[in-house]
Amino acid sequence: MKLVETVAALEVELDAARAAGKTIVLVPTMGALHEGHLSLIEEANQVADAFVVMSIFVNPTQFGKGEDFERYPRTLATDIEVLSKLAQAPAVLFTPAVEEVYPAGLDAPLKPRAGALGSVFEGIARPGHFEGMLNVVSWFFEVTKPEVAVFGAKDAQQLFLIKRMIHREFNDSIAIIEARTVREEDYLAKSSRNRFLSPEARAYAPNLFASMIQVQEEIIEGELPTVALAKARTILDRPPLAKLDYLALVDKSTFSPISDEFSGEAQLLVAVVVDGVRLIDNITFYIQEPA
Ligand code: PAJ
Repeated sequence: MKLVETVAALEVELDAARAAGKTIVLVPTMGALHEGHLSLIEEANQVADAFVVMSIFVNPTQFGKGEDFERYPRTLATDIEVLSKLAQAPAVLFTPAVEEVYPAGLDAPLKPRAGALGSVFEGIARPGHFEGMLNVVSWFFEVTKPEVAVFGAKDAQQLFLIKRMIHREFNDSIAIIEARTVREEDYLAKSSRNRFLSPEARAYAPNLFASMIQVQEEIIEGELPTVALAKARTILDRPPLAKLDYLALVDKSTFSPISDEFSGEAQLLVAVVVDGVRLIDNITFYIQEPA
């Protein structure tokens, strides 16, 4: 695994890989690597002749004021150690400096891309988050020019917006691999933020997945989505420990909330703030037309 810190050095590696007929596969992350991130590398390695570029960059513009940018875990030395022990490590680990990603400074306006979807669900609690996220992902796409990029299903709204940006701005030239969510034994989705959970919060956390599965089962058995959701909301919202932000069903193809008459691929989204830590999760399932 080559450690690369500048775009110029990255280009040398990419040119050599392309000359050797490799396919560039990008795996963007913010580090503090866990098994979820490692599963993305495994997916990337499935691509024929893959030249896997993983990036680690804690992107300042996707954190709002008062969010956890400062305390976001930065564990580069451990991350490098973890990666170098893999049977198939990425070919390149790219860790650019803030100045190279943001030559005009952090206060320069970002190109607006998220639109209305930037201010629903995660966007309500995290204003500007998706603009910052899309900005940095498009920067990584531009400097890497990957044929394939790998993202986790764990961040559903992020993934939806990235796919839409690839369609709108990259001419569908980048294929996306959507990696399934890696979970703990009790089904809590792995996250770099889980380390901040207090024992009480950690004990509560498996409720997110359990409630989603409950809603899915009830709907599949014929319950109305609004009824199943309302019931689960009362279970999830447990102040003062846990404050439910949203539990909502969207049409996976549009990311808009669905009515009780909807049939098709639905995505159930949940966000809860547990003892100060924001947890998100989602599952996808098919809602049949009533017989
Ligand atoms: P980060 O939170 O580090 O996540 C990097 C990638 O890992 C994302 O595609 C995310 O969906 C995926 N991921 C996180 N937890 C996962 C899990 N439990 N199972 C499977 N995949 C998981 O998401 C970001 O960074 C940033 O917003 C980024 C896209 C890098 C832009 O800054």
